[in-house]
Amino acid sequence: MDDKQTQDPVTGVETTGHDWDGIRELNNPMPRWWLWTLYGTIVWGIGYAIAYPAWPLIQGATAGVLGYSTRAEVAAEVAAVDARNAAVSEALARADLATLPVDDPAHQFGVSGGAAVFRANCSQCHGAGAAGGFGYPNLLDDSWLWGGTLEDIEYTVRHGIRNETDPDARFSQMPAFGEMLTKPEIAEIAEYVLALSGQDHDAAAAAQGAPLFADNCASCHGETGTGDRTQGAPDLTDALWLYSGTREAVTETITKARFGVMPAWSPRLSDAEVKAVTLYVHQLGGGE
Ligand code: HEC
Ligand code: HEC
Repeated sequence: MDDKQTQDPVTGVETTGHDWDGIRELNNPMPRWWLWTLYGTIVWGIGYAIAYPAWPLIQGATAGVLGYSTRAEVAAEVAAVDARNAAVSEALARADLATLPVDDPAHQFGVSGGAAVFRANCSQCHGAGAAGGFGYPNLLDDSWLWGGTLEDIEYTVRHGIRNETDPDARFSQMPAFGEMLTKPEIAEIAEYVLALSGQDHDAAAAAQGAPLFADNCASCHGETGTGDRTQGAPDLTDALWLYSGTREAVTETITKARFGVMPAWSPRLSDAEVKAVTLYVHQLGGGE
């Protein structure tokens, strides 16, 4: 081992004096600027860890002496937006929707705010685009169970349908005819319902079903099957189905009946939010 520091003859750089089997190491220290940058980042890191939330703890993290938090920042931004919208939101909460002009700022605020309320509260049942699904009505078309005026929609949203929490909820109940009629009678009525909606059917059975329909169904669905909004009884002639219009589904509906439930929203949404989502639903396409 030769520990002598010498000059490397090829590069002219000093060696460190380390020597392994004749291989020697050049003494090339890190450049100054690099070292200072390194020290700088260490100092910065320590300062940051003191000032800002940094070290993870079992619950949460060290808070940092500046007390900064992204949550607080978001809350402040939300509060600022709310403050900016307070006046128009207040106006919407007080407005009579039926007479609120479409170009009123409160109307425009309602429709766009209503879209957000709908996404957060209604889309899980009625679908993101409000087209509904099995048992959940399509809100885009002009076929309404309970009515499509602003007043009707606002009432439906506020009180809901067949829920147990709101005494003013819309309510009606189709009986389960499996307990009242025979299977052949139900089959005949089902054929009549298929005929009403213009589908393939057995004409002879449907003719047998017609008087049964008049006796058992017309009180809610109407003499001609076009439904009754005061009872939320669907129009059976429009080929738009809440529970599918196949022979099997219609037979099941008649046998067991259905019981669609919608929650009441007045306990959960503010007046402005109820009115906003009402305006939103009303302008989707089927509003009356
Ligand atoms: C838990 C599921 C559910 C949620 C959430 C829900 N609905 Fe409904 N909604 C229903 C059902 C089921 C019906 C149909 C009930 C029936 O058969 O009469 C309905 C019916 C309606 C109707 C009546 C449609 C008509 O044809 O008359 C309107 C309007 C409506 N919903 C709007 C909304 C709005 C707005 C929201 C959000 C604030 C919402 N719904 C949230 C289940 C829901
Ligand atoms: C007391 C009123 C009432 C009577 C009587 C009644 N219905 Fe209904 N019917 C309703 C209501 C309300 C609904 C919607 C139920 C729901 O959404 O939960 C409905 C739904 C239906 C549906 C489903 C429609 C769809 O869009 O999917 C069919 C089919 C139907 N009824 C057929 C009949 C037939 C056939 C009879 C007679 C045998 C009958 N109903 C008697 C109230 C009634």
